[in-house]
Amino acid sequence: MSERLVRRLRLGAAFVLLAYLILHFTNHALGLISLDAMEAGRLWFLRLWRSRVGTLALYGAITVHGVLALWLLYRRRTLRMPAWEATQYALGLVLPALLTAHVVSTQIAWWRVGADDRYARIVFGLWVLTPARGVWQSVALILAWTHACIGFHYGARFRPWYPRLAAVLFTVAVLLPVLALLGFAEAGREVAALARTPGWMEELLRATRAPGPVEAAALIRMRDGFLTLYLLALVGVLVARGVRHGLERRRAIRITYPSGQVVTVPIGFSVLDASRLGGVPHASVCGGRGRCSTCRVRVVRGLADLPAPDAAEQRLLARVAAAPDVRLACQTRPIRDVAVAPLLAPSIVAGQALTADIRQGREREIAVLFADVRGFTRMAENKLPYDVVFVLNRYFETVGMAVTSAGGITNQFAGDGVMALFGIDYGPAAGCRQALAASRAMVEGVAALSAELAGELPVPLRIGIGIHAGPAVVGRMGWGPSFYLTAVGDTVHVAARLEQVTKDYGCELVVSEAVGRYAGVDLSAFRRDDLAVRNRTARVAVRIVERVAELPATIRAANIRS
Ligand code: FES
Repeated sequence: MSERLVRRLRLGAAFVLLAYLILHFTNHALGLISLDAMEAGRLWFLRLWRSRVGTLALYGAITVHGVLALWLLYRRRTLRMPAWEATQYALGLVLPALLTAHVVSTQIAWWRVGADDRYARIVFGLWVLTPARGVWQSVALILAWTHACIGFHYGARFRPWYPRLAAVLFTVAVLLPVLALLGFAEAGREVAALARTPGWMEELLRATRAPGPVEAAALIRMRDGFLTLYLLALVGVLVARGVRHGLERRRAIRITYPSGQVVTVPIGFSVLDASRLGGVPHASVCGGRGRCSTCRVRVVRGLADLPAPDAAEQRLLARVAAAPDVRLACQTRPIRDVAVAPLLAPSIVAGQALTADIRQGREREIAVLFADVRGFTRMAENKLPYDVVFVLNRYFETVGMAVTSAGGITNQFAGDGVMALFGIDYGPAAGCRQALAASRAMVEGVAALSAELAGELPVPLRIGIGIHAGPAVVGRMGWGPSFYLTAVGDTVHVAARLEQVTKDYGCELVVSEAVGRYAGVDLSAFRRDDLAVRNRTARVAVRIVERVAELPATIRAANIRS
């Protein structure tokens, strides 16, 4: 079965089941109004789900979802997986066992013996006759909902609309089962009160054609038969996995990682399976479903021996502008020895998943800011290391907040210096305005921090800032956990130099004229100079801003995007 077909079938089945759950829970929640409202809602519910199309869709989805779950369990080469995925799997596997009794006593009883599964009869059974089953059923309801929510979250979180709707969806995800359970409890109380009326129960059982002892025994046999079948299928899959593993072990290949670690796995394992088996930290935001691209690896050796990527993998790699030697670890099943290097940090989050592969480097026009505390080294000489770390961390917090709230990215904290990038997402014009706004916020923040720490500091902290804008190569660079977005090139070099000369000019900010031009800000009121920069023939025209507070008030806005 092709990967694409499996994915589509799973998605379609999951959506039908999710729709069923939402409507079913909403129906339960009507119990908060009254038993009659619940029953009226059920008639609408049945009109959909007991129509020919509805029945086909529902039972088709249950079958497809269940069979594919077992198929995917068989296909998995290792059961090592992230906690969320393990929870999803475990819930998916226990749910059929938990829900069978309920389905048999409602839907199947209606089919086989014509029993009316109206709420009064079902709630009477679960709330009054066998409350333990009611609790069991409530637990099953929560587990089914949790399974559905995990699946939805991990499937949809790469969609551009998801972050915008996340808060609303989370609220619905919490509220709906709570309202459903409250509705059930309220209906239970109403039914319990009705049951005290003489003859009510007898009339209910008669009117709903509740199964008699013989029919009930047949239904129980049916339930047990289904559970046995399910258990056998599950055990069969596990046995088949074991047999396959035994056969495959004879044909092993070796996957080498940049640390020198070698993981030996049978042919048929994906590179991601190998990483998980060998305990190699490896990003896999979508859990190896071929949706996020975070598992991508550069194939250092053995590229020509790999099976070609299928259409879905090619599409995803094209979407992140991956280089020709890059493959998705979760979709690549080597048949000979290979050496690979994971490209993204294991800590990557969903929001960064489908961004272009900027690790390969892209030239972009950006603004680069450097800042440094004046005379900090001398000041630190007379302080205990603990005090130095404390003051530095407060300083980094202050300037870091100023940078991010203006829309920039703090890139490096080295010693008492900071490097920040602006305009990566919104271009150089916005980036330059952001950088100027950040410089103002940094100076204000550091002044406030100095006042707060007056008792700790011999003199108030003062910073010097340099800002330049122009082309730079931007990409993720580094290794292991120290793998971050940074920039290199002449623009960075010049910005660093501008920060250094703030000491010579005795000013707070030296900004290149290029920044003023990009930002559309008139800096002509500030002293001009042509600055020589080492290893650069052309001089840089700069403006010397003694006090950042003198910058035009228009650049104060936070998080500028245009
Ligand atoms: S783990 Fe998401 S595409 Fe491989």
